[in-house]
Amino acid sequence: MVKHRGDGTGPDLPAQYFDTIGAPDVTAVITALWRRAHMILDGEPHVLDDDLGFWLADMPEVLAEVDRPRTQHWKQARLHALGLPVPKALRFAPFDFESGGSWVAALGDAGFDPASPAVVALAGLTQYLTQDAIQQTMRDVAGLAPGTTYVATFIVSPEAADPADRELIALTAQINKARGTPWLSTFTPGQFAHLAQESGLHNPTIITSATLTDRYFTGRGDALGPCSGEQILTAAV
Ligand SMILES: C[S@@+](CC[C@H](N)C(=O)[O-])C[C@H]1O[C@@H](n2cnc3c(N)ncnc32)[C@H](O)[C@@H]1O
Repeated sequence: MVKHRGDGTGPDLPAQYFDTIGAPDVTAVITALWRRAHMILDGEPHVLDDDLGFWLADMPEVLAEVDRPRTQHWKQARLHALGLPVPKALRFAPFDFESGGSWVAALGDAGFDPASPAVVALAGLTQYLTQDAIQQTMRDVAGLAPGTTYVATFIVSPEAADPADRELIALTAQINKARGTPWLSTFTPGQFAHLAQESGLHNPTIITSATLTDRYFTGRGDALGPCSGEQILTAAV
């Protein structure tokens, strides 16, 4: 979640960036649009230069993406329709974290080796999951190979967020609900770290928005910065 205190003016986005709205999971579409729009509309430095796909093309390791089957099939169809090649390291593992099945098995089917250390990243996901499903992801990661890292963003309960950000957080929650992708889980940083520890993960560490601001957003002229309503946890196996 990124907040922008600018005046909101800027060139209009080309029409092609809107023609996919309404596809299966609006949240996923909006995230992809934001990344692209950010590169087009905002001056440098960019928070994210979205050239990851090109970089992955040369990666020898397996990189597997887990998403709900319907959303993932849609993404693959879009890549195909746009003529964008799928990097050879990238595998798709269709899976619903609320299904009660095993996402590790789904990753295995996609070529992931659970005996090798991995980075398991849940970016922008936990708010859409129940606490049981989140804890299951943590327990499952705790059972993976030593050297594995768990990284997850989480939405901060309003009372634990910076008071100046509470209105933005409430508005974002409302928009998600109206779009049919309501937030199911929020945590204080302490609760999220405790959940990780209780699930068998080691050294849970919260990366706050203040740390991210210091690291990536100093010296900008446009007041862009991360919102305290979303934070990051890292933990080790
Ligand atoms: C905000 S997007 C984040 C996408 C990506 N991780 C990123 O950082 O760009 C949330 C993603 O979570 C997925 N998602 C939501 N609920 C899910 C579930 N129960 N099982 C699997 N994926 C889910 C959505 O389909 C969507 O792709």
